[in-house]
Amino acid sequence: MPTTTRHKKLIIAIDGPAGSGKSSTAKALAIKLRLPYVDSGAMYRAVTLKAMQQGISFHKNFHDNKKLIRIAKSCRIRLTTSPKGAQKVFLDGKNVSEAIREPALTQNVHYIAQEPLIRREMVRKQQAMGKKDGAVMEGRDIGTVVFPKADYKFYFEAHSDVRAKRRHRDLAGAGMKMPINRVLEDIKFRDKTDYDRKEGPLKRAKDAILIDTSLLTIDQTVDKILQFIKR
Ligand code: DC
Repeated sequence: MPTTTRHKKLIIAIDGPAGSGKSSTAKALAIKLRLPYVDSGAMYRAVTLKAMQQGISFHKNFHDNKKLIRIAKSCRIRLTTSPKGAQKVFLDGKNVSEAIREPALTQNVHYIAQEPLIRREMVRKQQAMGKKDGAVMEGRDIGTVVFPKADYKFYFEAHSDVRAKRRHRDLAGAGMKMPINRVLEDIKFRDKTDYDRKEGPLKRAKDAILIDTSLLTIDQTVDKILQFIKR
């Protein structure tokens, strides 16, 4: 399909659980529509990395709010995407694209993502990014909290076994081997923390179009979305 003309300041929100195909689809869609791609999860990951670097200890009831909000506020997070869709994440000027995907960090990110003050700071940064040039923005609360008036909202679902298989393949591609049952357990744990969070939980916005990606390829998912986007 040919690349379409740039859609100025259009906001397309894509939410859904881990492994539902948001990132690959959002990236491909952003290229086709010539819009910036914003992976909001990468921002929570970058804050987690900074907190880990500063020796914050993660346990269920950690609440050093002042320190955390200082970290979240002082983080300079920059996301770049090459014309072919390769994303880089910079934290305070340093390329942290690989460091933020480490399994040890992935296990801690939900602590950061549940903290209301941090979420508000991230939401503010995400709104500023979207307002500047428009965006295809993916996450958990984009259609409900970050851009409740987005031009288009999509909510992805997929069977947990399918999502685990995708994650397993992605991890293997990045040289990280993990048994598939461990990946499935992780997916289920992440679902629970995403759904149960008090602020900005994973939730389908009432006006979001539901897409079950279980049996769809990325191209098919992109094509499905494009059917809804008015040119
Ligand atoms: O999509 P991901 O797995 O890279 O997201 C990383 C974490 O950030 C995950 O715990 C969910 C959380 N997240 C969030 O709370 N809100 C968002 N808008 C995006 C991600």
